[in-house]
Amino acid sequence: MARRKLIAGNWKMNMTAAAGAKLIQDIRAQFECGCKGCANGPEVLVCPPFTTIAAVIEAAKGCCLNVGAQNIHWAEKGAFTGEISGDMLNELGVSYVIIGHSERRQYFGETDQTVNQRVQAALAHNLKVIICVGESLEQRTAGVTNAIIEGQVSKALEGITAEQMANIVIAYEPIWAIGTGQVATEEQAEDVHKAIRALLKKLYSAAVADATRILYGGSMNEKNAAGLLAQPDIDGGLIGGASLKPEAFATIIKAALKA
Ligand code: PGA
Repeated sequence: MARRKLIAGNWKMNMTAAAGAKLIQDIRAQFECGCKGCANGPEVLVCPPFTTIAAVIEAAKGCCLNVGAQNIHWAEKGAFTGEISGDMLNELGVSYVIIGHSERRQYFGETDQTVNQRVQAALAHNLKVIICVGESLEQRTAGVTNAIIEGQVSKALEGITAEQMANIVIAYEPIWAIGTGQVATEEQAEDVHKAIRALLKKLYSAAVADATRILYGGSMNEKNAAGLLAQPDIDGGLIGGASLKPEAFATIIKAALKA
């Protein structure tokens, strides 16, 4: 089964509303008709900070660009200072949400259990989800990468049905590769992607494993994207730094078009 590639930009805590709208215009200017990501090409997504989302949605009008958020809380509402609810994201009009990024796990106390709770909430609000998993350098060195990743994926997916898997994307992001310029080799990434797909087969079925998109993230850029995207189990990228540069992001989208 051919999985449509997904090129997703994770803007993290970058871009004010004005800067974000300008970035969208600059990305669109990289494509002749204003937008060439559609139809046969990869699905393209950007995930700006919450306060930038409305301006980005406006700037993306008439273009197939999808807009997502970087977090969601599991409660409907209440005393959760600094969090955001599914209704709030629905009102904004985002289609995706990133959950469990290693920066959230590392700096904000995100656990496998809260990741699972957020995934449930996102699905209940008809949002597609990008679940991030990844090992530390110590874990890779200790040879426990696959065990760590399999644990993170299984726990994130607890209670998620085979039908709901149609709205789930997994992003493999080795922590040592995020923002460091030290990208995983094509072989290292493909190995883990294969292991994740094998796990999905065990947890669900061959059909679900075959249909689920698994992205690579961690220093993916305009130079290394083509090689990574050519791997049979790498179905796209979750891109931080390079997604803030219109030419680099456009080059990655074009690489996915060819892959
Ligand atoms: P990076 O970030 O591309 O800047 O390494 C990727 C991510 O954290 O999603």
